[in-house]
Amino acid sequence: MTSNEARHGGTSRMEAFRARIGGFAFGGDYNPEQWDRSVWDEDVALMRRAGVNLVTLGVFAWASLEPEPGRFTFAWMDEALDLLHAHGISVDLATPTAAPPVWLTDGHPEVHPVMEDGEVFGFGNRLHFDPTSPRYREHAARITTALAERYADHPAVAMWHISNEYGPVPYTPQSAVAFRDWLRRRYGTLEALNDAWYTRFWSQVYTSWDQVNPPEIPRSWSNPTRRLDYKRFVSDALLECYVMERDIVRAHRSDLPILTNYMRFYRHADYWRWAREQDAVALDIYPNPGHDDAFVSAAVNYDLMRSLRDEPWILMEQAASSVSQWQVNNVKRPGHLRLGSYQAIAHGADSVLFFQWRASRGGHERFHSAMLPHSGTGARSWQEVEALGTELPRIAEAVGATSRADVALLFDWNAWWGLTETHGLPRNDFDYPALVTDHYRPLLEAQHAVDMVNFDSDLSGYRVLVIPNAYLVDDRFTAEVSRFVHAGGTLVCSYFSGVVDARNQVRQPAYPGAFRALVGGYVDEYWPARENETFDVEFADGSTARADFWQDSIHPETATVLASYASGQLAGRPAILDNAVGAGRVVYVGTRLEADAFRDTLLGAVADAGVRPLLAGAPACVEATRRSTAEADYLFLLNHSETDPAEVPLPGAGQDLLTGKDATDPIVLAPLGVAVVRTASADAP
Ligand code: GAL
Repeated sequence: MTSNEARHGGTSRMEAFRARIGGFAFGGDYNPEQWDRSVWDEDVALMRRAGVNLVTLGVFAWASLEPEPGRFTFAWMDEALDLLHAHGISVDLATPTAAPPVWLTDGHPEVHPVMEDGEVFGFGNRLHFDPTSPRYREHAARITTALAERYADHPAVAMWHISNEYGPVPYTPQSAVAFRDWLRRRYGTLEALNDAWYTRFWSQVYTSWDQVNPPEIPRSWSNPTRRLDYKRFVSDALLECYVMERDIVRAHRSDLPILTNYMRFYRHADYWRWAREQDAVALDIYPNPGHDDAFVSAAVNYDLMRSLRDEPWILMEQAASSVSQWQVNNVKRPGHLRLGSYQAIAHGADSVLFFQWRASRGGHERFHSAMLPHSGTGARSWQEVEALGTELPRIAEAVGATSRADVALLFDWNAWWGLTETHGLPRNDFDYPALVTDHYRPLLEAQHAVDMVNFDSDLSGYRVLVIPNAYLVDDRFTAEVSRFVHAGGTLVCSYFSGVVDARNQVRQPAYPGAFRALVGGYVDEYWPARENETFDVEFADGSTARADFWQDSIHPETATVLASYASGQLAGRPAILDNAVGAGRVVYVGTRLEADAFRDTLLGAVADAGVRPLLAGAPACVEATRRSTAEADYLFLLNHSETDPAEVPLPGAGQDLLTGKDATDPIVLAPLGVAVVRTASADAP
């Protein structure tokens, strides 16, 4: 199957899925195997009361489905599926392969991964498998085949969910073998590998493939390109496991969507590559309820998920209230469950699903909240879940609606890995997700729509491209950015970008290699800040700001200077450049500006590019997005203030689907309030 077929097949399978569900999917992971049969009837009755229309069954249930090798115990699953179907609840049926049973790992200890620190990841947790283990794959294929044979045509099944949050990174003898195969496919010859890895440095030249191993544990200074390739390889090895199971299911049933679930800013899997292989993108996300601005990082993850396939996506897991992964697990305070759920929908989710339906009595996650908590239907959180499930059908017509943006923000795993995984840089404390979020936040707060892009993206539909600290960029992207700017695009690019190629080798003759002509200047030295060192920056209009962390020592060539340092060793030298290129413009920010000054610089460039925000004059605590169908536009308005109502100017008249009332300008959102305003489609004839 080509990725094009996979893509279009996925889109139409999801259309059929939406038609079947008839609106936004609502529900969560359901683990009946943890409960006596007598509890199940109450489960389905309460599911119906709460408006549940989809549950995910079977995640981690391997030991309950195959208690001994090859002996399957499907009776409970048969009964659960029949019961759910009888109550009109559809099922997202999971393969249980994220939690190998003890008979598999005891019988074949090589299934266990060895972690980067050399420790064996033993039995008693989950995800304790080495994705490169042939034995693991053989057993995963067997249980997947058995499930697919038995349930392919069960009428309850509406979607297939492969494994769960693929993740472990193995350092085992079998992963070394698989790594060598991957390298052979990538480089063809050892000579090419030696060139790419620059192995004459420190006498690391390989003369036989067998000598090549995964990188050593982090205490050692190891070859940076080997480290980078190992990241690429592990992502692909995990993806192979997914594809293997997907193909088994697909062979038994071709019209249902198949997917796996991703994690927030997950370092070990390049989700751009993964997204091509699944019918829809699905995300599990647990914004920390103890952090007031957790919604910003949630929003950037949601936009990433939407952008991966440029389609609506599935919110596969969130918490009804607290989680069990932090030192202190705060509750979601009243109103946040509703607001956060609509936030995901606002950014393209076609579902609100939870981990999990009923809170477990035991196990590590016994205090993780659930739709139905330990204290039952009397609990506040249940009431909020039930209210949300009852309210969601009011916006059913917006399911499947899409969005578009004029601003693109680069989020590429290769850029991430180059910056944070390969060591030996002028500074080694970059936090790529945080840097990307810093570039995203001003756009979110100014109610701009943002798409995320990667090295393979076509930039021609955008007016502004933002590149946060992309130390590593490949040649294809370099050429695409240049084409984009020459054609009239505006590029806003931050320090330490464009420095190395896809092999992690410095582009010469001068920094910032890939972008020198675009930036209109070169950098002769990178100056990471000393501890606690800050700099004054003075803009052309005389205003000043602080900066810290980093200074590019820039020498303008064709660019003009937007701001210069007003203190420190580089006083008088440029900090921000502005360069006209072809029909476009490049603003290059050579330091880490304080937030307000960075916001003004970024939003100034966006405004100069003629990009207007969705709302003019709304407060920064209001998030606004638009999703559209052929018939209508849906404006999602979210007030993140817990204390203050927000007055929001409306671009046109419409109807608030949540209240059923006309929405008039300005609309007032209560603290933590939400409105979903339908207006006629701006594109309608
Ligand atoms: C996810 C996982 C769920 C549950 C949840 C809460 O990562 O898929 O099974 O563990 O986190 O921690």
